[in-house]
Amino acid sequence: MKKLISLVMALALMVAVFACVAGAEQVGAGKTVGIAMPTQSSERWINDGANMKAQLEALGYEVLLQYGEDDVQAQVSQIENMIASEVDCLVIAAIDSGALTAVEAQAKEAGIPVIAYDRLLMDTDAVTYYASFDNEGVGRVIGEYIEQAKDLANTTETYTIEFFMGSPDDNNALLLYTGLMKVLQPYLDNGTLVCKTGRTSFEDTCILRWSQETAQQWCENYLAAEYADEDLDICATAFDGFAYGCRSALEGAGYTEENWPLITGQDAELMASKNIISGKQTMSIYKDTRLLAEKCVTMVNAVLTGSEPEINDTTTYDNHVMVVPSYLCTPVAVDINNYEELLIGGGYYTAEQLAG
Ligand code: GAL
Repeated sequence: MKKLISLVMALALMVAVFACVAGAEQVGAGKTVGIAMPTQSSERWINDGANMKAQLEALGYEVLLQYGEDDVQAQVSQIENMIASEVDCLVIAAIDSGALTAVEAQAKEAGIPVIAYDRLLMDTDAVTYYASFDNEGVGRVIGEYIEQAKDLANTTETYTIEFFMGSPDDNNALLLYTGLMKVLQPYLDNGTLVCKTGRTSFEDTCILRWSQETAQQWCENYLAAEYADEDLDICATAFDGFAYGCRSALEGAGYTEENWPLITGQDAELMASKNIISGKQTMSIYKDTRLLAEKCVTMVNAVLTGSEPEINDTTTYDNHVMVVPSYLCTPVAVDINNYEELLIGGGYYTAEQLAG
């Protein structure tokens, strides 16, 4: 009898799951979502696009996915074309967050809801929701990582540090800088941290379009000009791409395992994760793009079915025209001590990928 009951329950569960999947598939049937992504030059955006496409297609949506390759005008045209082809919803990760106002107004005019993905869309009232990570939190976590790794609160040593911050046209970049400096500014003020170039302001450290080449160039210049007699101890960078650039500059300047600095990053890209394992990068910020895509997909569903998505921030993301209701995922620091648990355990990468 017990067996029969379990069998019936198992069958009922299967039917329920099937109904759920079948039902879910219908949600998007006949509707198209246009996704405008910034660039394929960085691995994370390729994953973001692929994750979102797969999740939307699983719900029956058609997906138009395009990359602007860091060309602002190209992204504008791509979005214009999506509007012309009458997509039902737009998801945009902007190249220049303030350069899309005209095309966003066109979308609004055409009754197409717009969702901001990872980067806030600035100066527009056409954006409905925003899915991202807690961007100030990213900076704080990087700062706290440096603080703890160097025991800044207790040490009697001084450490040299240089900063490589994000793109000035990306709202995320200033927020990250703000979070980072809330932790590190006191140590710059009391002399525990020494920035020999003196470049500590956001204006002096922001890198347009998050360019890896610029980060490398700057790091080479800094090492040549300021660090001939004293090693650079910390590269506080806001992006894995910058960490790769610093790595090349440091190798070029003859740094070895003996004097290799602490290098931070963001995104936990596959290459960064491998560099963490080999010791060429110290940490990164694990931003699970599967989760971000999932949150964004629930927003797409909500706007197209007239329901309410999950929102956990209604005050922070003011785009100069409106405060955009947001869902912020939590950033986590990943390093040599927890990468197995986080990245492999969490199914983000396989052990083979990290070994290869
Ligand atoms: C930011 C994003 C970061 C990083 C950077 C460069 O907007 O928050 O995680 O990916 O772009 O692509």
